[in-house]
Amino acid sequence: MTVAAAPATYRTPVSEEIDAFDLEVEGALPPELSGDYIRNGPNPRPGETPRHLFFGDGMLHGIRIAGGKAVAYRNRWVRTRAFVENAPFVRRGKIDLTVAVANTNIVAHGSKLLALVESSFPTTVHRDLTTGGPYDFDGALKTPFTAHPKACPQTGELHAFGIGLMPGALTYHRIDAAGALVESRPIPVKGPTMMHDFALTRSHAVFMDLPIVFDVVRALLGKTPYVWKPKYGARLGIVKRNDPSVPVRWIEIDPCYVFHVANAYDDGEGIVMDVVHYKELWAKDAGSFDPTTLRRWTIDTVAGRVRETLLDQRSIEFPRIDERLTGAPHRYIYAVGVGATGEGRTAIDKFDVVSGSVTTHDFGPGHVPGEAVFVPAASGEDAGWLMCYVYDAARDRSDFVVLDASDMSAQPVATVHLRVRVPLGFHGNWISDDANIA
Ligand SMILES: [Fe+2]
Repeated sequence: MTVAAAPATYRTPVSEEIDAFDLEVEGALPPELSGDYIRNGPNPRPGETPRHLFFGDGMLHGIRIAGGKAVAYRNRWVRTRAFVENAPFVRRGKIDLTVAVANTNIVAHGSKLLALVESSFPTTVHRDLTTGGPYDFDGALKTPFTAHPKACPQTGELHAFGIGLMPGALTYHRIDAAGALVESRPIPVKGPTMMHDFALTRSHAVFMDLPIVFDVVRALLGKTPYVWKPKYGARLGIVKRNDPSVPVRWIEIDPCYVFHVANAYDDGEGIVMDVVHYKELWAKDAGSFDPTTLRRWTIDTVAGRVRETLLDQRSIEFPRIDERLTGAPHRYIYAVGVGATGEGRTAIDKFDVVSGSVTTHDFGPGHVPGEAVFVPAASGEDAGWLMCYVYDAARDRSDFVVLDASDMSAQPVATVHLRVRVPLGFHGNWISDDANIA
């Protein structure tokens, strides 16, 4: 008796690496776009079932755009030591930071393109999606490295952090514009929590010590090692970017979880920080994601208080902004809808946090978008494009879609039809040909 394979969904991994050229374009790709949109995400190898989505091997999906044409699409697993050698993360009781799944993000900085997962060193990759290897900034990096480093548009620096599995093991890293790791500052922290993102203003970094706590016993039993422990409490740690002598200022907040910060900025003596907020996370089941809301934390650094404001009720994830405004006041946030039980919504929302209005691009039934990346076209905060992959359930294929960020109700500027499925992943970026990638 043969067992029919379950029908593919927008989450089903792909089993092959392919190259496709001269792709079909509906609409018109902006001729000024010249570069690669590359998105990362977990894609377990055939026959492998990781204990959690977060542990699947990273796969990059890249589309090359130049001269108004969709020149090529290719997908490649990141050939980490975990992928190639099945190298263990822990050897003789010691964590090997050169072993990664590199499945969360891909960023360009200095002359490097880095595939990132928060538990390990970065992995260098190339525009053609081939893998270099683990990268420790020429020996300077001694900790894991977040998948959400932030480039400061004012200084050109890349700010990042690493958190280890021992209490107190949070380190704030600063990489200069040329790509050298120039500062690693230990930040005392209470416990080993899942710290996925942080906030960067023009003068501060803000760390989120939230109650998803690492549990070594569960890790040893092969279970998802992070658990919701509201009794751990929740606090924000405010750090002065340019003065390591000023101790971190911890301010208590109500227990919650935040994977992603949309943006943050200084406001007088305070800090404003917009986040995708989970009231609780994985309280019952680490395989599911609770609904979110978009919230604003207004941090009073003098009184040591945080005021929380609901900006919008709808459940979203993967917030992005015009990153020319990282650390400065922003007006627009773009985010993708996620259903309450993890089913994909079909829309990308644009939040105007000044007027409170929300405009939406709905791709229609069965069309599930991933994270939408903003690519600037001109001066003006929403003068640019949104790029994302959109899964079409009826065809079991994906499209690469370019929207006009200033007009969410318009038809896509361009839709590139792929002959393959791009499963829902995590984060991607537009790597312009102007980026000086070696
Ligand atoms: Fe993330």
